[in-house]
Amino acid sequence: MPPFRPRPPGSSRSPRPAFDRGPAAPRDSDTNAPRPPLTLQVTTLWDYPSQHYDRWVDRDGQVHTSKSARARSDRTHTMQGSKEYVGATPSWVIWNLLMRYTAPGDTVLDPMVGSGTTLDVCTDLDRKGLGFDLQPQRPEIKLNDSRKLPLQANAVDFVFIDPPFSTHVAYSEDPRCIGKLDAAGDDGGEAYYGSMQRVIGEMHRVLRPGRHAALYVSDSWRRTQRAGRDVFMPIGFNLFALLCDHFDPVDIVCVARKNQKLAMGNHRKAAEESNFFLRGFNYLFIMRKAAAAPAAAQTTSRRR
Ligand SMILES: C[S@@+](CC[C@H](N)C(=O)[O-])C[C@H]1O[C@@H](n2cnc3c(N)ncnc32)[C@H](O)[C@@H]1O
Repeated sequence: MPPFRPRPPGSSRSPRPAFDRGPAAPRDSDTNAPRPPLTLQVTTLWDYPSQHYDRWVDRDGQVHTSKSARARSDRTHTMQGSKEYVGATPSWVIWNLLMRYTAPGDTVLDPMVGSGTTLDVCTDLDRKGLGFDLQPQRPEIKLNDSRKLPLQANAVDFVFIDPPFSTHVAYSEDPRCIGKLDAAGDDGGEAYYGSMQRVIGEMHRVLRPGRHAALYVSDSWRRTQRAGRDVFMPIGFNLFALLCDHFDPVDIVCVARKNQKLAMGNHRKAAEESNFFLRGFNYLFIMRKAAAAPAAAQTTSRRR
């Protein structure tokens, strides 16, 4: 595989992002207000007013997340993953992916599962979740560096990943954390993109042929101390290029972000006055691993 060569960034010496991603703060998780029922997103612009979704439990203890069953059930105000975990993925995004690309009983892998959002959605939908991370938050999450997955080839039916977007969040002290690698660093992002290249290669190796994978990511921008040296990092486009080395693209979805910073007056004012943009969406890249060529067809074509 040829080494990945991102375009040289505008600057490489700034310390921390000034107005960047920040925690994906839930808007209504602290209240018990009902959230809208989950329905499948049907356009490539995905939106939902909460980080988490409610579920309904019927008299037999069956869990429902769909509209159809909820009338006969009691609502439980739930959280998938943890709202305390900085950078947690909106669970309804994962719910939508699993509804479309998996069936009950399928095995779903998240190599950077963080607070376990993917595992909780798997439980709700009767999928088997496998979660790894460098700082396991729960016993069922296994400690692992996702550049090498402890799984056989072709072992899982779906992969979801929400990786660090460069250095915007300090996830852990573990030196192997990809969140310590600057996508616009002195090395031109080589360490960050080289690591993500290995993670994506592993995602492809362990996924069954013909099945889907999804990567959720945002671009990044940061203000530097020196005028004219601000850095925009097109992480989405660069990771999409790496994904395309292995997978066929299925679609690109734009997920509206509900980060509370987006509504804060001081942040909006700074963006206007200093002429930059707050990040308003995340990419969701939906990919597919090519189906294995049928053995019989190969034999026939060889005979001809
Ligand atoms: C954006 S967070 C994932 C959030 C998660 N989807 C959730 O909902 O809680 C990125 C995660 O990647 C993990 N991580 C960073 N580098 C890693 C590596 N080399 N191997 C495994 N996990 C890593 C971090 O510890 C962090 O939990």
